[in-house]
Amino acid sequence: MGKETLTITDNRTGKTYEIPIQNDTIKALDLRQIKVKPEEFGMMTYDPAFMNTASCKSKITFIDGDKGILRYRGYPIEQLAEKSTYVETAYLLIHGELPTKEQLDDWTFQINHHTIIHENIKKFMDGFHYDANPMGMLVGTVGALSTFYKDAKEIHDPENRKKQIYRLIGKMITLSAFAFRHSKGMPYAYPDNELSYPGNFLNMLWKMTESKFKPHPVLERALDVLFILHADHEQNCSTSAMRGVGSSHVDPFSAVAAAAAALYGPLHGGANAEVLYMLDEIGSKENIPAFIKNVKEGKGKLMGFGHRVYKNFDPRAKIIKKLAEDVFAVTGRNPKLDIAMELERIALKDEYFIQRKLYANVDFYSGLIYQAMDFPIDMFPVLFAIGRTSGWIAQWQEMLTDPEQKIARPRQVYLGYESRDYQSLEERSKVAVKSAV
Ligand code: SDX
Repeated sequence: MGKETLTITDNRTGKTYEIPIQNDTIKALDLRQIKVKPEEFGMMTYDPAFMNTASCKSKITFIDGDKGILRYRGYPIEQLAEKSTYVETAYLLIHGELPTKEQLDDWTFQINHHTIIHENIKKFMDGFHYDANPMGMLVGTVGALSTFYKDAKEIHDPENRKKQIYRLIGKMITLSAFAFRHSKGMPYAYPDNELSYPGNFLNMLWKMTESKFKPHPVLERALDVLFILHADHEQNCSTSAMRGVGSSHVDPFSAVAAAAAALYGPLHGGANAEVLYMLDEIGSKENIPAFIKNVKEGKGKLMGFGHRVYKNFDPRAKIIKKLAEDVFAVTGRNPKLDIAMELERIALKDEYFIQRKLYANVDFYSGLIYQAMDFPIDMFPVLFAIGRTSGWIAQWQEMLTDPEQKIARPRQVYLGYESRDYQSLEERSKVAVKSAV
């Protein structure tokens, strides 16, 4: 094996440059020495949507898109989904190791004792329209939490960060449940800290007049596994937003609000809802061929399919497909599952999808479970956000403590006008100006 370097020849000047290779990458800054004239800025890379750019070094989550591998801190997602809980997985992501019993008990106690929210938050909730989208409500209210916890700005104090982390994980289920109850016109149900994290969430969602809500164990476990599966996924769009916004050293509540806003998008965490809208639009198996034809003609997407990293199966989709049977045994089978499975069967044989390496991702089947559990479709991205909060926090903290990181501020390739002089309104009115957009 030769030297760990790249030798680049700039054919414009005939000069060659030796660039060190580290972790199978080169540092983009090492390209800046490549110039024609000494006064030039120097070479940059151009990578719209960061298709081939590593923005950070991380030890949190590993994905092998070709082999369908997903590991949190080295533990395969299949093992965590089978043996762990969301609260324990959140500890693992944030601290780097699975907790001892004492550590888990303390972590659980702290999170449980930060589920209550300031009563004023209810006034925000009440201010939303009756049909406000709960994800929009979550983005707004989690950001508003930054105004209640002024100490959250102390992001360089590890003890202070801990308190904000307990608050964020603890309060995400309360804010989410309150948004749901608002949309149903129901009174808010308060946390019951004797229940598990998913059980407490179900309690705040569904508690009626009974003195103590008892979650169904199968649904409680299913939700726990779904939170585990959604907990982190390396540098996805919303995590990049968390890191980017967090790099300005804003408080973590504001950074989570930005990450949740990114997750809300239909190409990202909003896809689980779009899948159900798509299945409703298809309506029956007989309509699938016509729908696939439209997709192949570029008239829409097969939502819940495709992934920037997974070019084979998404291991989470496989686990969710199995989980669905457990849930349907309790709730009754979601009839849309038949359409979804037929859609997947047809797509997996179709050259259009094979050639583009499009497979079912985490969002393709998750919505079917949520719907069977009586969640309205617009709550699905909220459920994604609850799970992903621990991943956002872990990545945010890793960014803050990484000496190589600083405020995120990409460069650009400028292709606009050169310098030009201002023209008065009269002069401009004489010549019709072509709009730039
Ligand atoms: C999540 O990044 C993460 O890790 C995300 C996530 C996480 O855990 O954080 O895994 C969660 O967001 C999962 C993805 C959920 N989104 C969807 O299911 C929406 C549908 N999928 C697509 O929009 C798309 O596949 C993306 C956004 C997921 C990935 O987009 P890419 O990598 O930019 O791929 P692309 O859009 O460049 O597509 C490549 C080709 C294109 O065709 P051509 O222009 O080459 O002819 O594949 C086509 C696309 O048109 N294509 C699809 C398609 N997805 C891609 N065609 C039909 N249906 C689709 N779903």
